[in-house]
Amino acid sequence: TIMSVETAKKIAAYKAVDTYVKNRHVIGIGSGSTVVYAVERLAERVQNENLNIICIPTSFQAKQLIVANKSRFQVENEMHLSDLENHPEIDVCIDGADEVDCHLNLIKGGGGCLLQEKIIASCSKQFIVIADYRKNSSYLGEQYKNGIPIEVIPMAFVPIKNRIEKRFGGKLELRMAIAKAGPVVTDNGNFILDWINFKHNLKWEDINREIKMIPGVVETGLFIKMATKAYFGMQDGSV
Ligand code: A5P
Repeated sequence: TIMSVETAKKIAAYKAVDTYVKNRHVIGIGSGSTVVYAVERLAERVQNENLNIICIPTSFQAKQLIVANKSRFQVENEMHLSDLENHPEIDVCIDGADEVDCHLNLIKGGGGCLLQEKIIASCSKQFIVIADYRKNSSYLGEQYKNGIPIEVIPMAFVPIKNRIEKRFGGKLELRMAIAKAGPVVTDNGNFILDWINFKHNLKWEDINREIKMIPGVVETGLFIKMATKAYFGMQDGSV
């Protein structure tokens, strides 16, 4: 039997939660559609195994997921919502990705939550990626065509776009909202430039550093040498 994409997301998420979450852990909760299954499994385990865990969200969406599952599984006193001020050291962060290459470098931010995701990942002892088989690539840009998101300060988006296009090639597009006329505004009040048609033989560590040095760039969706492990749900039902 061939598994659907949704089933593939779910089995990857369940496997990661079952492998990495331990009692009294501080857990970073990523964003996106795959993480939905991870939080569901987390709350279910807290209920079934009487665990006590602390959750640190990476976005408005992640926070909502935590709140919803606390009440759904009736674990209000066992599953705690916290932040980096109270818990600056995270045991394990579980998050999705838009694409994963063979070195475990990632493109993230398709859902616009890259900045807080990268901060939380950088505070985590282990950073576990969960994804379906479509995200498993040998190089960045092999399968994922929506580009590398770059979060920028709104008043600087034009010079940043011009500089990156001139220096590295490709094209940067201001991400536009769907249900409103105008640009997407991130959880942090910034804009997103999606870098498409970039070259494939780029040295991502250097590129990431150079882009971050441009005034007005807040963060990039390049997660280089951050992931500990990636779990892919496969079409044959394996992980
Ligand atoms: C959110 O901004 C992204 O970084 C997500 O983590 C990424 O897009 C994965 O989302 P899906 O699980 O929905 O593919």
